[in-house]
Amino acid sequence: MNMEIAERVKKMPIYLFSRIDELKRRVNNTELIDLGMGNPDLPAPSHGIEKLKSLLTDPSAHRYPPARGEEELRRAIAQWYKQRYNVHLDPEREILPLIGSKEGIVMTYLTFLNPGDVAIVPTPCYPVHFNGVILAEGIPYTLSICKENNFLPDFSSVPERILKKAKIIFICYPNNPTTAVANLEFFKEAVAFSEKYDLIIAHDFAYAEITFDGYRSPSLLQVEGSRERGIEFYSFSKTYNMAGWRIGCVVGNSNLINSIFKTKCYVDFGLFSPLQRAAAFVLQSSQGCVENICKIYQRRRDVLVEGLKRCGWEIELPQATIYVWAPLPPPYSKLTSYEFSEFLVKKTGVVTSPGTGFGEGGEGYIRFALVENEDKIKKAVERISSVL
Ligand SMILES: Cc1ncc(COP(=O)(O)O)c(C=O)c1O
Repeated sequence: MNMEIAERVKKMPIYLFSRIDELKRRVNNTELIDLGMGNPDLPAPSHGIEKLKSLLTDPSAHRYPPARGEEELRRAIAQWYKQRYNVHLDPEREILPLIGSKEGIVMTYLTFLNPGDVAIVPTPCYPVHFNGVILAEGIPYTLSICKENNFLPDFSSVPERILKKAKIIFICYPNNPTTAVANLEFFKEAVAFSEKYDLIIAHDFAYAEITFDGYRSPSLLQVEGSRERGIEFYSFSKTYNMAGWRIGCVVGNSNLINSIFKTKCYVDFGLFSPLQRAAAFVLQSSQGCVENICKIYQRRRDVLVEGLKRCGWEIELPQATIYVWAPLPPPYSKLTSYEFSEFLVKKTGVVTSPGTGFGEGGEGYIRFALVENEDKIKKAVERISSVL
């Protein structure tokens, strides 16, 4: 039996979290404080869980769901975009529920890239923005985002020869892993760039609602003309601590969405209907739960950043996301980000993600995910202070 894996899978780098798991396994510390993966520890909204329970007893709920997703969910998403961003979306044509936005991002690349087509992807980035291109046999062109540019891409740095072959540009603000935010002016510039070079523009909006200190993040679709070539991925995973429910959606240009739907039809049957309908209910209910979630992350952020500052490690306060993006502290700046993460987990039991897990542009940084309670984060700070 020939068990050799396909070339496209061989080309995939080891998945970031497999490397982190390997780090954890090698360290025999029973008291690990795991700030590695961005896996929310807080509960999903109780009214959503109650709604889900009530929907489970309907016998028809257990059939295959409607191919394009439950109308109830599409309508709720349209209503939410209208209220939140004053963006009008047609629930029939401009919204497609996804089994999490991660799935949708890969489907997008599979739908639009022919082998050898280029996708412009910032580095560092959420790994799927990059790896999805490889899975689709495309060629990722990595566009550096760095502190000097507030972790925003300089579109003018992309060479003409790349632009001739490029089909998609992928952006993500609030950004994982750098926590950077972008204003509407930036999105206008990104849309103008995509128009000029005839690119599809895809925006990952997974952290849309996890913002602090009064900051609110704009949607790509607020930009006039963005609907001509733009799509946006929204996720329930972080906003509502519903990561395990696997609910997201893609919204925007109806032709692009229809094509992604065509690919999806051959791969999956969509999401369990009660999950979709309970998610619609959550979206249409009071958003007080989101305010509470943001307050909790904001306090955790302050405990971590202020605590590390006291021991001489200066890190900028993020305005959004569930992460803290930290440059390696000066005595350790000669180490690679992987070596420093390894050092931290071995000496302190604090698990972080090495910046290079998000691409070469992440070198010199590690990422803390704020997914442990304040006491644990305080303990993490004490342990790190004792070794720095
Ligand atoms: C930027 C970004 N996009 C997408 C995802 C995946 O979201 P989902 O759970 O909707 O697949 C994550 C998860 O951490 C993320 O950080």
